[in-house]
Amino acid sequence: MADDRRRTRTASYEADPGEVNRVLLLYSGGLDTSVMLKWIQDEYDAEVVALTVNLGQPGEDYDVVKGKALQLGAVAAEVVDARETFARDFVAPAIKANAIYGLAYPLFTALGRPLIAQLAVEYARKHGCDTIAHGCTGKGNDQVRIEATVATLAPELKVIAPVRGWQMGREEEIEYARKHGIPIKGGAEQTPYSIDDNLWGRSSEGRWIEDLSHAPDDDVFQLVTRPELAPDEPQVVEVTFEQGVPVALDGERLGLVELLDRAAEIGCRHGIGIVDHIEDRIVGLKVRDIYEVPAATIMLTAHAELERLVSTIHQNQFKGELDRKWAYLVYAGLWWEPLRSDLDAYMDRANERVTGTIGIKLFKGHARVVTRASPNAVYDAALATFETSGGLFSQQASPGFIELWSLQSRMAHRLREHDAG
Ligand code: ARG
Repeated sequence: MADDRRRTRTASYEADPGEVNRVLLLYSGGLDTSVMLKWIQDEYDAEVVALTVNLGQPGEDYDVVKGKALQLGAVAAEVVDARETFARDFVAPAIKANAIYGLAYPLFTALGRPLIAQLAVEYARKHGCDTIAHGCTGKGNDQVRIEATVATLAPELKVIAPVRGWQMGREEEIEYARKHGIPIKGGAEQTPYSIDDNLWGRSSEGRWIEDLSHAPDDDVFQLVTRPELAPDEPQVVEVTFEQGVPVALDGERLGLVELLDRAAEIGCRHGIGIVDHIEDRIVGLKVRDIYEVPAATIMLTAHAELERLVSTIHQNQFKGELDRKWAYLVYAGLWWEPLRSDLDAYMDRANERVTGTIGIKLFKGHARVVTRASPNAVYDAALATFETSGGLFSQQASPGFIELWSLQSRMAHRLREHDAG
């Protein structure tokens, strides 16, 4: 029997049922992980320690989540406020790397998972757990991010992912919850969207979102005001950066968490950051996501603008390639890959001069840069102006430049004309 089960193991870090005695469960308080908290105790005859990580999910009551975990039989329930670490060590590097995947997704979930899994390792060790359990399905990116992190940081720990194997649909889970007295948040009648959020953004999946021809229903937008309902008056918000990291909003210096919260609040009011995205997941699927990313839209727009202003044409062309690579590694669950920290060294260096202030006008869903100021701008109004000439720029030199600059292209063009007769 034990041998039979062993044969179902595919990866080195998967747990054999016999070796599961104490499990650290990544617990959100939602239906899946609540059912799981009970199910692990029954199925594995194991103790469960619940860990809930606060990454700035709006409107979450962590006392309630903790109480629920204990009520469902957890031997301990930990809530960790990781917002500062998340902002400093994950979001700030993402800003420096202008991190966007697939032209629109600012990676909030992808940035959160390695930190959540790192904390799972830390708390599993603290509580003497042998196994980490999470609520990810077998179809998503999150399982990759969490399990790759655990396997990298703690080869001695095993992982179980009950949702991949328990073959309960929502109906069966609700049935299980009823039988075991597990309270269901928001009632059982209506299938909710599948939500994930933190201070950098929010995603919704499932229901009509899976029907590509279905335009977004209004009820999906729980964070950002729909642009048509946003104020008729625009608002200009000024973001100040030091070495690539936002440090002030409208002139007021703020800690990063507070600054991102405020930016999100202002963005939400003006309908900023709604994204309807078709995404190439790392596990092969193409999936549609609805994102609400007000803070990320404002910060990434402002950062990219300032970075372009203080960098040369060559730096600007090159960095985009590295930015894309950085975003892809993080999206793909390889946060701990050394190439990511190699790239970060470049990002830090490239951001040394990204200091200044960008003004962004917010109006009914649009965020548009309107002002720029930096002591490091590679810009000289006297040179750029149409009004006069002289100084460093010689208009007389331009024809010579054009002659040589276009030389190869002109020759190649002539050859083709000649060949065409
Ligand atoms: N598609 C995004 C990603 O892969 C968001 C995933 C949201 N996760 C979730 N469990 N609902 O990063």
